[in-house]
Amino acid sequence: EPQAKVSTLLLAWYDRHRRVLPWRALPGKKADPYRVWLSEIMLQQTTVQAVGPYFKDFLSRWPRVEDLAAAPLDEVLAAWAGLGYYARARNLHKAAKVVAEEMGGKFPDTAEGLRALPGVGPYTAGAIAAIAFDRPEAAMDANAERVVARLFAITAPLPGSKPEIIARGKGLVPQNRAGDFAQAMMDLGSAICTVKRPACGNCPLRALCAAEAQGIAENLPVKGPK
Ligand code: ADE
Repeated sequence: EPQAKVSTLLLAWYDRHRRVLPWRALPGKKADPYRVWLSEIMLQQTTVQAVGPYFKDFLSRWPRVEDLAAAPLDEVLAAWAGLGYYARARNLHKAAKVVAEEMGGKFPDTAEGLRALPGVGPYTAGAIAAIAFDRPEAAMDANAERVVARLFAITAPLPGSKPEIIARGKGLVPQNRAGDFAQAMMDLGSAICTVKRPACGNCPLRALCAAEAQGIAENLPVKGPK
């Protein structure tokens, strides 16, 4: 019930405030797994704003995963120049070859299957499974972790509290619209539930937020020693 309240309120907010981003499908439309995967790899260590032009350039050069797989690695690395963390580009090319040559051009449609691809860790697998295939998986990035730590007023310091935060986050994922829910968490974290001066007055989850009730939202999550 509290889980259902969170997802209902957050999805209603997302329907009104969703960011329009090049890799997001139009409302109600299916997302293209290739685009979702490509965007999630690019977004691993790079901001939404910086990724935009690279994403569009990659898609126009290599519209399908088979095209990317067939490209020479040095062309992919040259197109990646400026995004940084070049291991991502090498893994991107490797994974494209696996999907194109061993999977008939179809991405695995479960988080577990996606984890087998080079460059796809637990966060990215959950994000792609939810966004591209509407699997009820969590996509717990730093934004989503902050939202969850505040919602449940988890005051134990990171990184020790991470398993609890992730478990709580998983418990919020709805059976329907898991992809929209994942991206709504990201949008809420970047627009409202910000690190500094969160805009709690505009938050759709305000009435449910334990940290806000205690007046400690801005202090969470607590960062401890590693
Ligand atoms: N960061 C990582 N994945 C994202 C997505 N799908 N939308 C917005 N920000 C993101």
